[in-house]
Amino acid sequence: MGRLVGKTALITGAARGIGRAIALRFAAEGANLVLCDLNLKSLSTVAAEAESNDIKTLYRPTDVAERDQIQELVDDGIAEFGMIHIVVNNAGIFFNAPFERTSDEQFDHIMSVNVKSVFLVSQIVIRQWLRHEIKGTIVNLASIGAAVAFVDSAAYCATKGAVATMTRCIALEYGPRGIRANSMAPGIIDTPMLPSQEDSERWANNTIPLRRLGEPSDVADLALFLASDESRYITGEMIFVDGGWTLH
Ligand SMILES: NC(=O)c1ccc[n+]([C@@H]2O[C@H](COP(=O)([O-])OP(=O)(O)OC[C@H]3O[C@@H](n4cnc5c(N)ncnc54)[C@H](O)[C@@H]3O)[C@@H](O)[C@H]2O)c1
Repeated sequence: MGRLVGKTALITGAARGIGRAIALRFAAEGANLVLCDLNLKSLSTVAAEAESNDIKTLYRPTDVAERDQIQELVDDGIAEFGMIHIVVNNAGIFFNAPFERTSDEQFDHIMSVNVKSVFLVSQIVIRQWLRHEIKGTIVNLASIGAAVAFVDSAAYCATKGAVATMTRCIALEYGPRGIRANSMAPGIIDTPMLPSQEDSERWANNTIPLRRLGEPSDVADLALFLASDESRYITGEMIFVDGGWTLH
């Protein structure tokens, strides 16, 4: 307990799934939270749950693909808490279609929600860190799709490969200023994002060495490690949290 006391964490896509679990895990460790999502109703429920840990939250209905909205979120967060020390770029969407039937609009949309958002949020916060000499840390949601190929998932996997690469470049560029950036590569995590229950059960029984789907809390525990000082000498990494899926 108390591993993030005195810190403020910005978490995108916190209304449900992995983002919700990370928000509640960080709150239990004493962090104040700046939360955003498109779904304000669920987000407000998460914020209320988090506040039962005696921390403070600020939450907004922010579209992570829109620079102006993120700038406002970050400005409001800093006005409320003084500084943001941790960023978790979690908001993302999944998209499943044969490569030859993926439209320009579908490709552009997933690129802007999954990749441009990471660019925007990280850049806006890093500018603050440079100005105030803050040794902040960024945790990005990549995926096993950044490392292995999946059928009907070229656009999604391309976005996660881009996130992992952008993370490494940020780590290299700002390491000398004490800023760290890492990404997490979850396997199949049991959230509303999963396309089919049937496929999930098949994966759990046949493909995942630990023989179960991941829970959002499995990812939240890794996020806590990467956000905390316990990972102080780790940067630019992509860490798998996949029950061994990628061992095949
Ligand atoms: N579930 C998995 O198996 C899995 C595996 C690997 C990686 N991931 C990644 O983890 C992250 C979270 O996934 P999840 O399973 O919790 O998904 P989810 O669909 O349950 O939750 C995603 C959240 O992001 C929000 N969101 C979507 N678009 C947004 C936007 N434009 N602006 C603000 N918020 C937005 C949604 O409203 C939702 O609350 C994603 O980046 C996903 O790609 C998930």
